[in-house]
Amino acid sequence: MALSAKDRAMVRALWKKLGNNVGVYTTEALERTFLAFPGTKTYFPHLDLSPGSAQVKAHGQKVADALTLAVDQLDDLPGALASLSDLHAHKLRVDPANFQLLCHCLLVTLARHYPGDFSPTMQASLDKFLSHVTSTLVSKYR
Ligand code: HEM
Repeated sequence: MALSAKDRAMVRALWKKLGNNVGVYTTEALERTFLAFPGTKTYFPHLDLSPGSAQVKAHGQKVADALTLAVDQLDDLPGALASLSDLHAHKLRVDPANFQLLCHCLLVTLARHYPGDFSPTMQASLDKFLSHVTSTLVSKYR
C-alpha cells in the first residue's frame, strides 16, 4: 500500500523529533533483535554482538543513516536504497523474514521511548514506511 500524504507527514514529524538520536534507537533495535530472535545473529559472525558493543553501535548508525536517507527521499526509495538492495540481496543474501523482525523491534523501541507520540495512526504510518523500506531492500531477490 502506498504511503499517503498523511503517512509521510507522520514519519517526517517523528524523524524530526528523533533528531540526531536515530542511531541510538536503531542500535537498541538491533540489540533487541539479536536478543529476541537469536537466529538473526548468524548474519553477523564477524561482529561482537554483546550488549553495549561498539561494533553494534557503529552498525546501528549505518542503519540509521540509511533510514534517514529513506525518510528524506520517500518519493524514490528504490533510487535512494539501490546499492543497499544489491548488498542485502546479492552479497549478504539475508532471508527477507529477518527484515520484519528488525522492523518490529524498531517499532517497539520507538514506542518505548516516545509513548506520547505513538498513536495508532503513528504506528500504522511508521509500519507502512518500514514495510516500504523492506520491500525495496528485498526487491532484488526476485
Ligand atoms: C549492512 C541497512 C536489515 C544484515 C548494512 C548496512 C546498512 C544496512 C546501511 C551497511 C552497508 C555498508 O557498509 O555499505 C539496513 C536496513 C535494514 C537492514 C535499513 C532494514 C530496515 C538487515 C537485516 C539483516 C541485515 C534484517 C539480517 C538480519 C546486514 C549485514 C550487513 C548489513 C550482515 C553487513 C555488516 C558488516 O559486515 O559490517 N545494512 N539493513 N540487514 N546488513 Fe543490513
